Amino acid sequence: MKLIGPFTQMLTMRDLPLRGKIPDESLEIISDGGLLIDGGRILGLGRFADMENQYPGVDVEKITGDKVLLPALVDCHTHLCYGGSRAADFAMRNAGKTYLEIAENGGGIWSTVEQTRSEDEEVLLGALMERVNFLLSLGITTIEIKSGYGLSLESELKILRVIRRAQSMTPVRLVPTCLAAHIKPKDFSGNTEEYLCYVLEVILPRVKEENLSNRVDIFVEETAFDKGESKTFLLRAKSMGFDLCVHADQFTVGGSRLAVMVGAKSADHLEAVTEEDIAFLAQSDTVATSLPGASIGLGEPFAPARKLLDSGAILAIGSDWNPGSAPMGNLIAESSILAAYEKLTTAEVLSGITYRAAYALNIHGIGRIAVGMRADFAVFSTHDYQEILYRQGRLRPSAVYIDGKNILS
Ligand code: NIG
Ligand code: FE
Repeated sequence: MKLIGPFTQMLTMRDLPLRGKIPDESLEIISDGGLLIDGGRILGLGRFADMENQYPGVDVEKITGDKVLLPALVDCHTHLCYGGSRAADFAMRNAGKTYLEIAENGGGIWSTVEQTRSEDEEVLLGALMERVNFLLSLGITTIEIKSGYGLSLESELKILRVIRRAQSMTPVRLVPTCLAAHIKPKDFSGNTEEYLCYVLEVILPRVKEENLSNRVDIFVEETAFDKGESKTFLLRAKSMGFDLCVHADQFTVGGSRLAVMVGAKSADHLEAVTEEDIAFLAQSDTVATSLPGASIGLGEPFAPARKLLDSGAILAIGSDWNPGSAPMGNLIAESSILAAYEKLTTAEVLSGITYRAAYALNIHGIGRIAVGMRADFAVFSTHDYQEILYRQGRLRPSAVYIDGKNILS
């Protein structure tokens, strides 16, 4: 058992609502706070001085200087395991080339599939670890990571196994998701429906057998899979015991409605979501995940986060870090930019990258500072929590704790 503190400000987020808007006045800020930790979990919290009196003789980890404590952050949507680069795509897109022209010039998702398939496993692992460590340096201790750049049994398994190896090398909580249904690979001889059958009958059983992931994602889009075949796919994956999430409404609509209908944990992207589908999401337990990094990477509008919150939806924010649409990978910078454009309160943004993001991953026990929760938190060297989003990614934590242990030092 140990007592850590005093923290100039401790943001607990413990009583904030799961869904809808949150005024900043609702944020609980404990000044000169202390945290009592035992067995990796939070046993108590309050004013540091009071807790010192309450637990005489307890081990104390003394904090000096101005420090703000937040629940550690959660990135609930990434594609971190990939080979190569798509810098040329970015340049071509900015120079006015269309999606088709970029694909014809050797770019697009398929080019990352080729670069990932041919990449040495050790190189993939090294690159993945570097990205995980960058996210950790932002205070993120839980990261969802999708496959989806393999698109064959062998290469999807290779990616998921690399993620598993990464997990054995870091205390950061990695949450693998099988996105074999990203696009139909160019070298698959059948149609999209046949490819989805192949994923269901060949890839997913192996994923289950090797216990590589319990989550399945699909890209519902005109250029990927249509709503009808996606529905069949998602229901069958669900009946195999997988949690579902959907790349939905990025360019054309229908995916989020489908996500709600099949009981997906989250519908992600939503740049093109309609008013009607916002209302539908708001009445469901499916988390609406905004991915500002993809809007910034593509120069496209943001998902209507303000409207989603005002309607009562559960809004999470993910980085979508991938080599194509979202190369930035800085969840704090992206969330802060989203806040400025969509007019989100600090409480709404921080909820979207902590306990609401954890809910999207169906993970309980992280994302809030409360008794019984895991002692995962980030400590920033500042006197005011508002500095964190204000500095748009420049302010990084000086310490990050997982299960009560500082893993940055
Ligand atoms: O989430 N939208 C589909 N998939 C990714 C992009 C993947 C890529 O371009 O490599 C996304 O934006
Ligand atoms: Fe994505």
